[in-house]
Amino acid sequence: MTNHIGKNRLAGKVVIITGAASGIGATTAEVFAREGAKVIVADINSDGAEAQAAKIRATNGDACALTVDLGEPESICAMIAGTVEIYGGLDVLHNNAAATHLAGTHDTAVEMLDIKVWDDIMRITLRGAMIAIKLAIPEMRKRGKGSIINTSSASSLAGASSFTSYAVAKAGINLLTEYVAVQHGKEGIRCNAICPGLIVTPATAATYAAPDGPGAMMLRHHLTPRLGKPDDVANMALFLASDESEFITGQIIAVDGGSSSVQPFNADMQEMMKKFVTQKGAH
Ligand SMILES: NC(=O)c1ccc[n+]([C@@H]2O[C@H](COP(=O)([O-])OP(=O)(O)OC[C@H]3O[C@@H](n4cnc5c(N)ncnc54)[C@H](O)[C@@H]3O)[C@@H](O)[C@H]2O)c1
Repeated sequence: MTNHIGKNRLAGKVVIITGAASGIGATTAEVFAREGAKVIVADINSDGAEAQAAKIRATNGDACALTVDLGEPESICAMIAGTVEIYGGLDVLHNNAAATHLAGTHDTAVEMLDIKVWDDIMRITLRGAMIAIKLAIPEMRKRGKGSIINTSSASSLAGASSFTSYAVAKAGINLLTEYVAVQHGKEGIRCNAICPGLIVTPATAATYAAPDGPGAMMLRHHLTPRLGKPDDVANMALFLASDESEFITGQIIAVDGGSSSVQPFNADMQEMMKKFVTQKGAH
């Protein structure tokens, strides 16, 4: 189906977006379809994936839902085969899904960490992405080029007191990105990763809206006047999926309001300096 709403930056490209039933992936599916892509909305949440694909079709986009469990290699194999059966090939793989439901209170500091939680997060978030790439490459080779976009996280860049498995899996995604870029660059198959910082999705909006809550605290550590939204990540993914980024591969690109570019104590230092100047001015 031809789409005339956007600028057709992805005209005719067949794209898989995993985890596209909700959050950032759902927004990205809408943005890609608006730009003329044929979008496979892949998710373990079948009803959510069907609903999102139907929403896209209702606005004249081209989308189909496929159920996938990234923890199961056969299921990933069926996702790739299903995509080729529906749309005749594969141009872009966006590994957006992660086992976010296992993060939070389950994914603790190493000493308390349940090994099963570690294994499940690694299996879904890191191994799942690797298997999807492994199976996508032969299909991209048939097209003569391709773009793989992995979603990493700002959590992968430094240590923290919790989310151990999630962050280590995402650090693995970063290096996997570079390995795939090296191994397939000469074939025209590119691989890049996006490192989102805090992105406020419909599921987390209420938590971050509270004036004294974690949103306000996080904003102090951003260089921008606002926190991130799904479109910020979707727009970067759009660029990486399109031929506009043809010369870009092996990159880990932060979409985080500059929060990974600032020294961790900067916000506190600014406040201390303000107090110091006020006190000095008072004497
Ligand atoms: N929201 C943020 O602040 C933020 C920050 C950094 C990185 N990220 C990353 O961005 C991506 C999207 O995050 P989000 O906030 O939209 O999360 P989300 O929880 O809204 O979406 C994750 C999606 O993945 C799907 N999923 C989970 N397990 C799956 C499995 N086994 N097989 C297939 N699908 C599965 C879920 O059903 C869900 O639709 C994730 O990779 C996440 O780690 C998000």
